[in-house]
Formats: sequence, C-alpha cells, structure tokens
Amino acid sequence: MLTEVDVRLMCQAVNPGNRSMKILVLNGPNLQLLGTREPGIYGRETLADIESRLRGPVADGLGVRVECRQSNHEGELVDWIGSSGGEFDGLVINPGAYTHTSVAVRDAISATGLPAIEVHLSNIHQREEFRHHSYTAPVCLGQICGLGPLGYELALQALVRYVHTRNGK
Ligand code: DQA
Repeated sequence: MLTEVDVRLMCQAVNPGNRSMKILVLNGPNLQLLGTREPGIYGRETLADIESRLRGPVADGLGVRVECRQSNHEGELVDWIGSSGGEFDGLVINPGAYTHTSVAVRDAISATGLPAIEVHLSNIHQREEFRHHSYTAPVCLGQICGLGPLGYELALQALVRYVHTRNGK
C-alpha cells in the first residue's frame, strides 16, 4: 500500500515542478575550469558533470529542485545571492577565492537570511595559510571541505534536512 510520502515522491518524479523546495548552488571564480584546473588538487570531474548530477539524481533523491550557477565576478555573485531570498529556500556556495577576500559576498549571504552551506573541493585548512581564513563561513550553517565533489551532495542533503526540520516536517 502506498503511503502519502510515496505518492508525493512519485508525483515529484513525474513533475519536478511540483517540488516546493528549491536550492541555489553557486560556484565562484575559476570553478568553470574544473576538470583541467590543477587536477591533483581539484580532481578530473568537470563543473558540468557535478552540476548535472546535483540537478538530476541528487535533487530527485531529495525531492527538491536545484538550480546551479557559476560566475567569475564578485558583483554577479552578490546580485544572485541578493535576489535569491524570494525564489530559493537555501544556498550551497563554493565562493572560490572570494572565500578568503570578500566581505561583500559574506554580507550578501548574511542579508538574505537564507540557510547556506559553504563547500570547498579541497581541504583549505591543509593548504596555504591565506586559504585558512573564510569570510563567508561564519554566516553559513557550516562548511564542508576536502571531500571533492561529494561535498556538494552532502551540503544539499544537510540543507534539505535543515529546512524540513525548521519547517516542522
Ligand atoms: C576552493 C578553494 C579556494 O581556496 C580556491 O581559491 C578555489 C577553490 C575549493 O573548492 O577547494 O578557487 O574554493
């Protein structure tokens, strides 16, 4: 016998538009180069591969919608974060080098009030000292780093669970 949850998941699989929760996944500068950029540090998977997995099987498994965007421009990231409040329920962000420099990206995350999780492919704490400090992590629920592309999936999972719990579901 089908439960209410089974029926909801089946409806969502047929029509992803039914899914009420929507998460924005943002990647900052140079992350469009994944696959060829320092593969010893960042791996061989391209951003397109990662994003299609997040939008497809990962979003399907969680019963949510995922939209992915990448920009090399601080102002564009700030604009996207700033206008995300009405449309999205949460934010997964790898701010790239802006992690270590951008008060503007930090303030934008803080201003949205959306729950956010910071992701880094590499373990920034094992690398150069200037990468150890994150301006953005203090305004995020948490930071996941060093787990490669899996970090994005874990961040989505954690965010969805956080929003459900907060909404009392
Ligand atoms: C990065 C780590 C940053 O220090 C670096 O500037 C990046 C990628 C990561 O995903 O490991 O561009 O955010």
